[in-house]
Amino acid sequence: MSALKNFLSIADLEREALRRMPACVRGYVCGGTEDGQSLQESRHHFGRWGFVHRGLRNVEQRSTKVSLWGQEYSLPMGFAPTGFSAIVMHDCDAALASVAREAQIPFIISGASTVPLERLQAESQQRCWYQAYLPGDMERVRPLLDRLRKAQIEVLVITIDTCVAANRENLQRLRFTVPFQFSGKLLLDGMLHPRWSLNVFLRTLLQQGIPRFANLAHSEGPAITQNPSNGFRGERDRLSWEHIRAIRALWPGKLVLKGVMHPDDARLAVESGADALIVSTHGGRQLDGCISPLQALPEVKAAVPQDFPVLIDGGFRRGTDVLKALALGARMVFTGRPQLFGAAVAGRDGIRHAVSIFRSELMTDMALLGCAHMDEITADLLRPVGETSRP
Ligand code: GLV
Repeated sequence: MSALKNFLSIADLEREALRRMPACVRGYVCGGTEDGQSLQESRHHFGRWGFVHRGLRNVEQRSTKVSLWGQEYSLPMGFAPTGFSAIVMHDCDAALASVAREAQIPFIISGASTVPLERLQAESQQRCWYQAYLPGDMERVRPLLDRLRKAQIEVLVITIDTCVAANRENLQRLRFTVPFQFSGKLLLDGMLHPRWSLNVFLRTLLQQGIPRFANLAHSEGPAITQNPSNGFRGERDRLSWEHIRAIRALWPGKLVLKGVMHPDDARLAVESGADALIVSTHGGRQLDGCISPLQALPEVKAAVPQDFPVLIDGGFRRGTDVLKALALGARMVFTGRPQLFGAAVAGRDGIRHAVSIFRSELMTDMALLGCAHMDEITADLLRPVGETSRP
């Protein structure tokens, strides 16, 4: 743990994680699609907003707490769903769930995760959210909703930006596919990274066998080397607002739509009975050439009622990044890669460290901004860089 103190920022963790990961794991975790424009935009847009901080406001008693639907979280942050995290760390989903519980932040189970959601619910004391990749077929959706209800999942997140497989050329070049296929390239890659081969690959194989598509459907699916029935992406291209309305009528818990970028979709989300939305470009992993979620945020926010929770993910690496999104109207920010970098460097302790970096940056930066509480972080504290007018 003490060596972790030398990792001062998420960027420090990232550098070390990249050194430790075989090329195919690095490619999967860090990659975008096509020319990587959506991925780059999501990082760069933070630099286009600058703070105008306030002084002399007595910020001694600071708190990073936020509340959402009556539930208090210790940070305005949570863990976004990240599929196949088992390739980063043995039992990674379980570690993410339990660190999120300790840290009192939400953890969203990915539909593409490999530890059964029932076990993740136990690790988190029934606090996980679940993110679904849904086919446009209610006959297949209903049994999944039954499973979620039985597992006492209270928040269902439906991703709306994955109607087809995106063009991940980097993964094709690395011969990395879903379902997974072993290739000479992968084996060589593993041999060049013995620590990963031993601690992640072999340990997982020996203790669990080949990981499974554990949470894609109503029951545990096949090993990730096989195609689940109806394929991994079968009939997602038929999913429509009609399905969302039908799900709303059936689902008693909270309903969140993830991947909303257009203000008209934000309005439709509200009209369809969603309880929140996540502005997101899927970590730059679906449509390339998108503006950043941060750039889309003000328009999305303006399209929904004032108290409707707007959440966001995409490229957050600093406390100041989080503060900018809050100032532009986000209630909470989700991260994906940062906690995986922590996991790759030092397992559970590394995930904890990623959270503690964000926590301490937020505490420092909100004080310097002149804010003691999250609701004081408002748009009047931001200006577009190079201009003087208010957002
Ligand atoms: C999963 O959501 C992925 O982007 O690979």
